[in-house]
Amino acid sequence: MGVTVEIVNKDQLATLRALCLDTFTETYGSQNTKSNLENYLETNFNHSQLKNELDNPQSEYYFVKVDGTIAGYLKVNVGDAQTEIKEQNGLEIERIYVSKAYQGQRLGQALFEKAMERAWFHKTTFLWLGVWDQNTNAIGFYERNGFKTFDTHVFQLGDEMQTDLMMKLELV
Ligand SMILES: CC(C)(COP(=O)(O)OP(=O)(O)OC[C@H]1O[C@@H](n2cnc3c(N)ncnc32)[C@H](O)[C@@H]1OP(=O)(O)O)[C@@H](O)C(=O)NCCC(=O)NCCS
Repeated sequence: MGVTVEIVNKDQLATLRALCLDTFTETYGSQNTKSNLENYLETNFNHSQLKNELDNPQSEYYFVKVDGTIAGYLKVNVGDAQTEIKEQNGLEIERIYVSKAYQGQRLGQALFEKAMERAWFHKTTFLWLGVWDQNTNAIGFYERNGFKTFDTHVFQLGDEMQTDLMMKLELV
């Protein structure tokens, strides 16, 4: 099985958008109301939002592929593209999603290793991320990779208040 992790180019926006919508719905669809979910998808994954992100030199999207078939993606941010914290020596994993059919095959690990590679490239001293406190699957994955919770933040999904764990991996 050939696993590759490849940068997402601007001309792949439509493919990226479809994957973002599918994986987000697959992950959170059953635990959130339809209207909250639709609201989130429309705000965060609309064409112009994704175009701006792909145009931003401080954000990068990567696809993970299995024998050429796209199975998941990663989004990392540095500098001012980070959604919070915004320290120059930090790298944010904003999104890491593997399609359900491909989970448990070390593809999340391949994406995480790309994030580590980008952190070394940018000479950042830590990686960080926010994860919904009910997402025990992802929390287990991040803990397995050495992340530790350092804070909690409340955020709004539609009309519902939810809690995010803020997790950090120090590199030095
Ligand atoms: C979280 C996610 C990215 C993990 O990807 P994956 O491809 O299923 O995980 P991998 O097979 O690469 O696992 C890598 C390592 O983490 C471990 N791991 C994976 N899930 C785990 C869990 N729930 N608890 C503990 N460890 C876990 C694996 O055992 C493996 O460790 P090993 O090297 O000792 O075998 C994936 O499940 C996913 O996309 N989930 C839905 C989207 C999501 O919630 N994203 C995070 C949003 S913040």
